[in-house]
Amino acid sequence: MTKSTNGVSRFSSALKIYLINMKAKKIAIIGGTGLTQLPELDVISEQVVETPLGPTSGLLTEGKWQGKDIVFLARHGHPHSVPPHKINYRANLLALQQCGVDTIIAVNAVGGIHPLMGSGVIAVPHQIVDYTWGRESTFFDGEFKPLDHIDLTHPYDNQLRQVLIDSADSCDFSLQDFGVYGATQGPRLETIAEIDRMERDGCDLVGMTGMPEATLARELNIAYASLCLVVNPAAGKSDGEITMDEIRAVLAGGMDQVKQLLAVAIERLQ
Ligand code: HPA
Repeated sequence: MTKSTNGVSRFSSALKIYLINMKAKKIAIIGGTGLTQLPELDVISEQVVETPLGPTSGLLTEGKWQGKDIVFLARHGHPHSVPPHKINYRANLLALQQCGVDTIIAVNAVGGIHPLMGSGVIAVPHQIVDYTWGRESTFFDGEFKPLDHIDLTHPYDNQLRQVLIDSADSCDFSLQDFGVYGATQGPRLETIAEIDRMERDGCDLVGMTGMPEATLARELNIAYASLCLVVNPAAGKSDGEITMDEIRAVLAGGMDQVKQLLAVAIERLQ
């Protein structure tokens, strides 16, 4: 057993296959920017799920992929229209739980801060710093549920992260098995000084939707991990300014790789 940079223990592959037989009854994929549909899904139903906390970002699409029960939800709606700070994260998570989801793979388009997080890189983050504000970020608000304080020492489910990381073995690309995700408010991108501060804080990636999604999944006891696709160098990490054209160019091919990885991971989840 060796220790990796992110403090997660690594095992030899034979032992790993034995250890990581993670059970997942129903898996949800929350698609972000660039993944508002999942044509690979053999659709069984598309439904509006009403929640006591309001509407979800869009329809919940249920179907089969790789023989598994999958629910797909586009975080920003389809077409992409709900900005990051206006997403009803609580309704999304509650609706997924009501559908019987016990495992969520979140897909997030992000900016890269760490030198290893260049455009087109896929990363499985292991930590989060939350810079968002004013978002409904808990079920335990004393109204919907009585006050409670959940543990978020490790914000992502480590077994699920490991399944995602190991799945890259069967893909024709590699991924980064670490990353501190800095969640910003958006929808604007950051200033150079803000990215410099985030770097000093230890952030490797910057995105707008990682929180409160991770918190809410933990509050509902749903295993949650994220697949981040770096679509641009963060502000100040390249010579020029960040353009949507540059982001769109990376999204097209990058999301194909994300889906390749998802297909392997889903097959491996039992
Ligand atoms: N900053 C914040 N969110 C993002 C970025 C970024 O540079 N790129 C994609 N999502």
